[in-house]
Amino acid sequence: MSKLRLGVIGCGSIRGKHIQALILNRDEISLASVCDISAERAQGFKDSYLALTGDGDNISIYSDYRGMLKKEKLDMVSILTDSGKHYTVASDCINCGVNVLVEKPLALSLDEVDSLIRIASVNKVKLGVVHQYRYNPLIAALKNCIDTGRLGKLFYAVTTVRWNRNREYYNKAKWRGTKHLDGGVLMNQCIQNVDLLQWLLGERVAEVHAYKRNYAHPYIDTEDTVLALIKFGSGMLGMIEGTVSIFSGNLENSIAVFGEKGSIKIGGKALNRIEVWNVGGKDRQADCILSNDAKNLGQSSCCHSHVYKDFIKILKSQGEPAINGEEARKSIEIILAIQQSSELGLPVTLPLKGGNANWE
Ligand SMILES: NC(=O)c1ccc[n+]([C@@H]2O[C@H](COP(=O)([O-])OP(=O)(O)OC[C@H]3O[C@@H](n4cnc5c(N)ncnc54)[C@H](O)[C@@H]3O)[C@@H](O)[C@H]2O)c1
Repeated sequence: MSKLRLGVIGCGSIRGKHIQALILNRDEISLASVCDISAERAQGFKDSYLALTGDGDNISIYSDYRGMLKKEKLDMVSILTDSGKHYTVASDCINCGVNVLVEKPLALSLDEVDSLIRIASVNKVKLGVVHQYRYNPLIAALKNCIDTGRLGKLFYAVTTVRWNRNREYYNKAKWRGTKHLDGGVLMNQCIQNVDLLQWLLGERVAEVHAYKRNYAHPYIDTEDTVLALIKFGSGMLGMIEGTVSIFSGNLENSIAVFGEKGSIKIGGKALNRIEVWNVGGKDRQADCILSNDAKNLGQSSCCHSHVYKDFIKILKSQGEPAINGEEARKSIEIILAIQQSSELGLPVTLPLKGGNANWE
């Protein structure tokens, strides 16, 4: 089968991960066009791809993605714009009959997410979302341990993002730190961890109770810190700590799961180190069977590459991407419930009623 023709929309900071992933999937994907409202960034994407592959002279550059959709016969697009624009851009692509892979978060409200799921189904196109942490080999090993029952009955799990994002970070792009285009620290910096928490435990969240603060960023509209308690359907508990206010640099990004027969904590600054792996009383890392990928954890583009691989496989055969609209909806609903709880000062039960557009 011929290669899939891909267009990229949005060529900002995250582009490097996508370029690496495209290179790793070159046998299946041909980069046909790139689009950014900044001509310089679109050109930068093309130049980087060209420099790394020696191939790409014929990549077309656009500043208007609607024009790109009309002109190019694309099989799929990757949407890497500001989060708050994902909905409009993805809707337009889907309505043109193009398969879409969207960076996290899929959208900022449940109404938008539900609309994307519906129109993708009506237009018979695939909708995939980049939650690449699920492909982190340490996380995959933890998932395997949970699913095969080796931790026994699960008690509770905690995920922690203790990061620093400074003024320079927020100044780099106007959308960051805004309510309507960024969505706050959980939606932007911690959604992968929220996704992992619910995915690893494989349970529906029943209730959340949360507090939020803006400690260190008076120049942004949103909170920079959220602490949330989670109650799952079975009564199991969870906790989310997400902040970008840590003095004076990134400290930790971790997830810890505690069960009757084992304790596991994957940590480091980027879920890249086994901190505790005590399963059945054996405190040994060898208990965790790691693939060669684990050695490449520093290059997290290998995780983006897995997201592409899964999407390509589905486009070339049948079925649904592993992380489709419904999967991406779960973490968004949890985050919106957490935001609602921290606004109300009360616990909030899920599912959220009436497809809550957002918490306001
Ligand atoms: N998966 C991950 O680990 C990860 C990491 C970082 C960022 N992200 C996500 O990637 C997305 C982009 O983040 P970023 O840090 O690269 O942002 P950025 O601001 O650096 O880049 C966004 C780019 O989109 C372009 N853009 C905006 N509107 C456009 C339009 N209508 N048409 C074409 N281009 C348009 C902007 O000009 C900019 O170049 C966000 O949704 C973010 O949450 C994901």
